[in-house]
Amino acid sequence: MQKQDVIKEILKQFTGVKSSVTLPAAYAWAPANLALCKYWGKRDEELNLPMTSSLSISLGNRGTFTRISYVAAGVGDIYVVNGKEVAAGSEFAKRLRAFLDLFRPNKQAFYLVETESTVPIAAGLASSASGYAALVLALNKFYNWNLAKKELSVLARLGSGSACRSLWSGFVEWYRGERSDGMDCYAAPLTLGWPELRIGTLIFSHQAKKISSRQAMAQTVATSKFYPMWPCQVEVDLQKIHQAISTQDFVLLGSTAEHNSLAMHALMQSTLPPIIYSNSDTIAAMQRVWELRHAGIEVFFTQDAGANLQLLFLANEEHIVQSAFPELEIIRPFFDMRSEQLILVDETDREIGVGEKLPVHVNGQLHRAFSVVLWRRHNGNIEVLLQQRSKHKYHSANLWSNSCCGHPRPGEDVLAAAMRRLHEEMGVTMPLREVGTFLYRAELPGSGLYEHEMDHVFVGECSTQLALKPNRDEVQAFSWMTIDRLLADLNENSQQYTVWLPQVMAFFLSTK
Ligand code: PMV
Repeated sequence: MQKQDVIKEILKQFTGVKSSVTLPAAYAWAPANLALCKYWGKRDEELNLPMTSSLSISLGNRGTFTRISYVAAGVGDIYVVNGKEVAAGSEFAKRLRAFLDLFRPNKQAFYLVETESTVPIAAGLASSASGYAALVLALNKFYNWNLAKKELSVLARLGSGSACRSLWSGFVEWYRGERSDGMDCYAAPLTLGWPELRIGTLIFSHQAKKISSRQAMAQTVATSKFYPMWPCQVEVDLQKIHQAISTQDFVLLGSTAEHNSLAMHALMQSTLPPIIYSNSDTIAAMQRVWELRHAGIEVFFTQDAGANLQLLFLANEEHIVQSAFPELEIIRPFFDMRSEQLILVDETDREIGVGEKLPVHVNGQLHRAFSVVLWRRHNGNIEVLLQQRSKHKYHSANLWSNSCCGHPRPGEDVLAAAMRRLHEEMGVTMPLREVGTFLYRAELPGSGLYEHEMDHVFVGECSTQLALKPNRDEVQAFSWMTIDRLLADLNENSQQYTVWLPQVMAFFLSTK
């Protein structure tokens, strides 16, 4: 059975209308995921059907944002990753093109695929999983298929096996299935969460791995004498992980995940020729983890097909683990979940519904938002705090803006949301005062998105001693600027600022 046959089956009701695009472009987001019980070995190379089930945790707001559209008068697809066009002859482009060939309505239809990744660079966390999951979600919107997540999971698997687990947040299980067409081989979320869970990524190698997971899996299945034991190991580990999650037994979760990963790497060492992804830094870090455990700190590791390690621990050990590994980047998979829901309002700020973040911005629907302006008196002047948005933001990346802004979640008070975001983005908690609301609509240059917001403006007066701890994922720099300098620069260099900043500043000044 070929990929094309599976796709034909899933899209059978769309024959002939597959190319009827209703949107000029479609956007989607998917999180990266880390397997706690690994997928290692395929029973069908073409369809990425695994030998065993597996179980992962999605990585909160670390993942891939993808936009797909047609290239007007194209001679081929264009792929842009984190703002850089990918060479057409690269392995990345070849694999993506082959996958998109499965969906192209005709040979002259070419795609522009733009992706932004917030997966820590080269952290050994498969960005292909979130990449193919986001791509399938974007295609579903682009062609208006309205497929169920189960079917989308099957489609994502055809792009990259572990991508089928990246369609959900939290814990996700990928079922092995029995059928040869793989229609019963898809992922589904577990309903239980674990807010205190933390994942830390340790990066030892920025180099692309010499042997891909695809090749390494195939070689393991073909040559390791121990491979027949792997399905039994997985069966036991899956049971233990389910039990650990339902009883919130962290030691059981961590020890099972660590053992499962070591067993997977042991299989690789037993292949002909052997495959060893670890380097001396990997081994030293494993020993450090074991020393910490010996000293009573509950920290465990897991390793994918690369030299880097991911550490597992709970919130109460965060400081101690961070000081043992200063370079550790910590992810809070349940706390940092991307909330996609915004509050839709009418022109009197009355709530009229909720909407998913991206379509709301694509269609320019009016929604509730807030802007925070922190200010201080310094050397006889009033200064305001500006932040430079991270390069990973889905719009207005790299631009300078007011101290913090965002959207309240459905059911969340707007002041509480402003305090929450101020803490998440700038690392400070302080009293804020709402000074009013204003309504604006603006196109966000270069993104095809629209801001149409009922913006609640909050101000907070700061002391000159205020210590800011900006979150690197959100904010790349900050600066205190006098009002006069800012107003002059907004005139001269408006392209360096967000479209909403002039209005927020005008509002702020009217309260002074
Ligand atoms: O989906 P792939 O081909 O990137 O393989 C993933 C393999 C591991 O990351 C090592 C294990 C897993 O289950 O994610």
